[in-house]
Amino acid sequence: MWPGLAVLLPFLANFPISPANAIDNLRVAFQWKQVEYAWPDNDTRLLFPAYKKEDNVPLGLEVAGDRLFITVPRWKLGVAASLNYISLNDTRESPPLNPYPSWAAHQYGAFGIPEVVSTFRIRADRCGRLWVLDTGLVDILTEPEQQAPPALIVYDLANDQIIRKYVIPADQRTTDSLFANIVVEDYSCEDSFAYLGDLGGPGLVVYSWKENRSWLVKHHFFHPDPQGGEFLVAGVTFHWTDGIFGMALAPTGDGYSTLYFHPLSSTMEFAVSTQLLRDPDRSTSPKSFHEFQALGSRGPNGQSSVSFLDPATGILIYALTNLNAIACWKTGTTYNIQQQGRVYMNNVTMVFPNDLKIDQNGNIWVLSDRLPVFMYSELNPEEYNFRILTGSAREAVQGTVCSMKPAVVDQSSPSPNIQKMPVPVLTNRATGNAAGAGAGVATGGSAGAGSGTLKSSAGTEAVNVPLISFLGLIIAQLAA
Ligand SMILES: *[C@@H]1O[C@H](CO)[C@@H](O)[C@H](O)[C@H]1NC(C)=O
Ligand SMILES: *[C@@H]1O[C@H](CO)[C@@H](O)[C@H](O)[C@H]1NC(C)=O
Ligand SMILES: *[C@@H]1O[C@H](CO)[C@@H](O)[C@H](O)[C@H]1NC(C)=O
Ligand SMILES: *[C@@H]1O[C@H](CO)[C@@H](O)[C@H](O)[C@H]1NC(C)=O
Repeated sequence: MWPGLAVLLPFLANFPISPANAIDNLRVAFQWKQVEYAWPDNDTRLLFPAYKKEDNVPLGLEVAGDRLFITVPRWKLGVAASLNYISLNDTRESPPLNPYPSWAAHQYGAFGIPEVVSTFRIRADRCGRLWVLDTGLVDILTEPEQQAPPALIVYDLANDQIIRKYVIPADQRTTDSLFANIVVEDYSCEDSFAYLGDLGGPGLVVYSWKENRSWLVKHHFFHPDPQGGEFLVAGVTFHWTDGIFGMALAPTGDGYSTLYFHPLSSTMEFAVSTQLLRDPDRSTSPKSFHEFQALGSRGPNGQSSVSFLDPATGILIYALTNLNAIACWKTGTTYNIQQQGRVYMNNVTMVFPNDLKIDQNGNIWVLSDRLPVFMYSELNPEEYNFRILTGSAREAVQGTVCSMKPAVVDQSSPSPNIQKMPVPVLTNRATGNAAGAGAGVATGGSAGAGSGTLKSSAGTEAVNVPLISFLGLIIAQLAA
């Protein structure tokens, strides 16, 4: 347990956590107790004899035009279709899923292995293409079988035709590979790049659309942290050793991007330029080790699944698996606990946030699915288990540390935002020094405006906890 916890609690006991700094500006758009498919007729259903409703758990999402795509990986054998969509027009609470691009693309039997075997995550680009990263792996929870090699399948969203299939070469994967996440850099439609995260390898496969080839990038920063693998979600404790997983591209204005990434079993965030990744020689050379940057840690319980960068604001929005929460960090600021803002947190609607995208209208879309309960316990079919939440990205970060002006050094004229936030300054437990470094810097050096010093019950030690430090508060809440 975190050593600072005991001294945090007296402070939090009379602390108004919400709603002042927690706006929770997301709403449930769709929710399901169990997923249903839009079977056109009974004959179609007969073509899917292995189908078992309770095996179907949605995991990834994407929005393109008026369609909302939803993946259903073949964790178990009873999955009907691994890639589906619903209409954003649909006003039903639990719309049935329509297989994409067709029912036939998901069928076994006469068709052999289906066109799409088992996909976790997908990405729609600005060129009208849907990039589907197919793991090729089925029955993961019982008897895992690599039915087909992992592959990238690209569809033309205008006519739903497959326009490319690229099998990831055998020398760019291992028997432990699981290609679970994809980001696409689409500044040029002809010269796009896809970054395929292999959490099991671990590794990052860079694919060039123009050259129709890929290369494998390896780095220590892709590895899980041996101490970051314990998760506790909805009362279920489990251990995962997943490497590189969350990935988000931030345009740098010169035709390249910064790729922010993190392993799933870790609390650290890292970054690398796609200028390096796109160069097959430099990115695979050991000499480039130091071109990868370790940004910092989110602290205890800061394991994160997916992330997405809002290009309008430069804010990285990401999911916190252990905390049933969505959080944010403003790129360009120091990466520490104090700079992480709470966007949304709910122990019913946000249990295991599993995918997150921001669409071209600036709306966040999050899918939460209670996956650990499905994997290690049992979902209750009488409860809502799967949800898609949405809201304006701009409104969602309002009132958080992410939407504030950067640190102001001049204490005589702090920004209005900062003035509203009283900042308790405590003594730093580790150093015993006054907490100038943490609270002061994070909140614009406003320690003079509305700060106070608290001591622990022991009277000798305290911890540095700015009011707006979301993660610090959560750690204490969990323990309370
Ligand atoms: C499908 O079969 C069910 C019973 O198995 C029946 O009640 C239903 O009417 C059938 N639907 C169609 C469209 O034939
Ligand atoms: C959604 O509504 C628009 C406008 O009414 C319509 O053109 C479109 O076909 C609908 N989309 C779907 C997927 O049903
Ligand atoms: C791309 O490469 C794959 C495998 O290397 C090949 O099967 C496919 O035909 C190629 N596609 C194009 C459009 O060149
Ligand atoms: C959710 O949180 C509330 C308030 O903290 C708590 O009372 C409730 O028991 C929690 N529910 C679950 C399912 O953990």
